[in-house]
Amino acid sequence: MINVAIDGPAGAGKSTVAKAAAKQLGYIYVDTGALYRAVGVYALRNNISTTDAEKIGAALDSIRVELKFIGGVQHVFLNDDDVSEEIRLPEASMAASNVSAIPAVRSFLFDLQRSIAAQNNCIMDGRDIGTVVLPDAQVKIFLTADDEERAMRRYKELKEKGSEVTFKEVLDDLRERDYNDSHREIAPLKPAEDSVLVNTTGMTLEESTQKIIEVIKEKI
Ligand code: DC
Repeated sequence: MINVAIDGPAGAGKSTVAKAAAKQLGYIYVDTGALYRAVGVYALRNNISTTDAEKIGAALDSIRVELKFIGGVQHVFLNDDDVSEEIRLPEASMAASNVSAIPAVRSFLFDLQRSIAAQNNCIMDGRDIGTVVLPDAQVKIFLTADDEERAMRRYKELKEKGSEVTFKEVLDDLRERDYNDSHREIAPLKPAEDSVLVNTTGMTLEESTQKIIEVIKEKI
């Protein structure tokens, strides 16, 4: 199977770019952040602190996370409930970042990611795909952009959905998540040694997508 790993910080455009590239290449697109978000949503729904490693660890026995590809589009199920929309709420972002620092959560989601990649040609995006989940991926890309530009993209997205957030709130939130994700002890966000670095600052999503496809085609 051909596996492409795309890692990078929040708001770098990973999902849009990976989705478009996967469509063009006929691969499935796997958004691993959605898995951490589903665990985060479980904690929020059940009033469990997302930083309480012990309680979250104990709750994993009651959590079943599944990915289903409906018409090529990924849907995330939490205990048979389609939470694909709910996981996009801003509070789910920080919850996901918090639970993702808990080792038990990472190992809980590891096999699922590995088995999807073993069975499908896919582009998988996340934080540790090239470094931990798929160290043998044929292509590894580290996608990034300046934090203000990433925050602006996220801010516009949220505004379009009718959210009342301010740009500063989005930027602060994003910086906190960047810090969390790259400073945790387990599987921190960092480029794999054999990854291709792509900085999309000043590039449109269309340009970023073309660049990614170019990198993939060069490698395979
Ligand atoms: O990609 P995203 O913003 O949907 O991810 C949400 C959080 O999940 C992110 O802040 C960190 C965590 N995450 C992770 O630790 N490892 C991954 N492979 C994907 C996401």
